[in-house]
Parts: sequence; structure tokens; C-alpha cells
Amino acid sequence: MRTLVIIPTYDERDTLPGTLARTRAAVPGADVLVVDDASPDGTGAVADAAASADPAVHVLHRAGKEGLGRAYVAGFGWALARGYDLVVEMDADGSHRPEQLPALLARAAASDAPDLVLGSRWVPGGEVVNWPRRRLLLSRAGNLWVQLALGVPVRDATGGFRVYRATTLRALPLAEIQSQGYCFQVDMTWRVHRAGGRVVEVPISFVERAEGRSKMTRAIVLEALWRTTAWGVAHRARQLRRWLGRVSRRGSARQRPWMAPRSERR
Ligand code: GDD
Ligand code: MN
Repeated sequence: MRTLVIIPTYDERDTLPGTLARTRAAVPGADVLVVDDASPDGTGAVADAAASADPAVHVLHRAGKEGLGRAYVAGFGWALARGYDLVVEMDADGSHRPEQLPALLARAAASDAPDLVLGSRWVPGGEVVNWPRRRLLLSRAGNLWVQLALGVPVRDATGGFRVYRATTLRALPLAEIQSQGYCFQVDMTWRVHRAGGRVVEVPISFVERAEGRSKMTRAIVLEALWRTTAWGVAHRARQLRRWLGRVSRRGSARQRPWMAPRSERR
């Protein structure tokens, strides 16, 4: 299956070359697309140099920083226009180990044809290396909230190391996606699940970056919190309406003897 690994970058000059080299070694048959948001540190030029040395590496330059979600939507469009079968999301900073890509891709190609394969830190065998307590708590709490609010039956809906089937992406209204920051990951998981797609998890080892800095901000956390809460409220309201509809239909379909006048009761 034709595979594209999408790597979004913002100020990843120091991390990108190593990740590209490891990716090409781990999955030589896959193409790579770097989606750079005009990084001030010159990551775009680093990516261009890699692309001119290796025909399997491509670069999508965007005008400015618009968030992880927008970068991925642009990358998905690029992939779908070129007929790839599998589309991978992976961070540039080495936290997602390219050496684990073959396992994710093998799961994606399995006979049950999952729509979305999540690299998961929170299933048995998964782990996080070198994260501060604060980030561990945030990830745990975030995933718990996603399970409670949306009822999505996965352990790691917030992670960004995953494989989509192109047909699954094609069926989603990608242009409508509002999520800008990291809640894009939850948004996509939720959309695939709600569309009836099969979402499966494969354990990964997430290793905190050794160079550069995380782009996670308070604004990204707040966006994730309000969006997941809004989705959850809308989802639970829909469920309640469906349930009420069922109850009232049942009530009118079956004659309820205690509601008939006493004289008509048998
Ligand atoms: N193009 C683009 N535009 N890339 C971005 C942007 C942006 O606005 N913001 C971040 N990135 C890129 C980074 O350059 C990196 O390659 C990747 O997205 C992940 O960013 P990090 O800043 O390293 O994320 P993290 O390590 O804090 O967060 C990780 O965990 C989150 C929670 O589980 C990532 O795996 C996230 O995807 C995940 O949601
Ligand atoms: Mn990171």
C-alpha cells in the first residue's frame, strides 16, 4: 500500500534531519511530507535540502503558524490528491520513534482493515519516557475527559502517532474541521468513531524530545478543554433526544391499559 508519513514542523531545525533519516531507514517504501508553517528558525530550508537530496521527501510550505490541525488538514489534502492508501501522522521531534512505524503500518494493513490505528501510550505495553509529572497528569486527565464526555472507547485519543486509511479520510468533511491546536487529534478520533469507523490501538513508547521545545501552550490546552466539552454536551443531548423519542414512541405504539378509561380495561 502506498504510504505517506506527514511530519508537521514549527521550529524543528535541530530535530527534523534525524527524524527524516530514521524514518527513511525504518520504512524505506514510504514517502514523507514535511508541512512547515514558515518556521522562523529556518526549518523550511532544512526540509527543502532534504527533499532535493531524496525524491521520497516532499515539503509543503505554509504562509504562517496556523496550528497543528490546519497543518495536518493541508497535508491530508496533499496525500489524497496523490492517491496514497495510508496516511501517517508523526511528530518531528523524535518523540514518536520511526522504528515503531512498521508495527503501526502492519496493524493498519491487517485483514480487519482498521480505519484508524492509534499509537497508544496508555494501553499495556505503551509508555512515556521522560515526561514531567505535569504532562503525564494532563494526558491522563485529558483522555479521561474524552472518555467521559464523548464515550470514545480508546485509551489514547490525544496522541499524534497514528495511521489513517485514505478512504476513511476521504469520507470525512475535512474542510469543516475547526480544531487548530492539539485537540485536532481528539477531533479526528471522534469523527472516525462517530462515522462508525474501526479505531484500534497499538502500544508505543513516547520519548520526550531531547532538543528544541514543545509548542504546547495554555491556549492549546484551553481550546482542547472547551471544544471537547462542547462536543460532549452536544453528543449527550443527542443521546437524550434519541432516548426520549424511543420512550414516547413505545408509549404510543403499545396501548397502556392503565391509561385507558376504567370501563375499557379488561
Ligand atoms: N506546521 C506546524 N504548525 N507544526 C506544528 C505546530 C504548528 O502550528 N505546532 C506544533 N507543530 C509540530 C511540532 O513542530 C512537532 O513536530 C509536532 O507538531 C508536535 O509538537 P510538540 O510541541 O513537540 O508536541 P508535544 O510533544 O508537546 O505534544 C505531543 O503530545 C500531544 C499530547 O499527547 C504531540 O504528540 C501532540 O500531537 C499530542 O497531541
Ligand atoms: Mn514533542
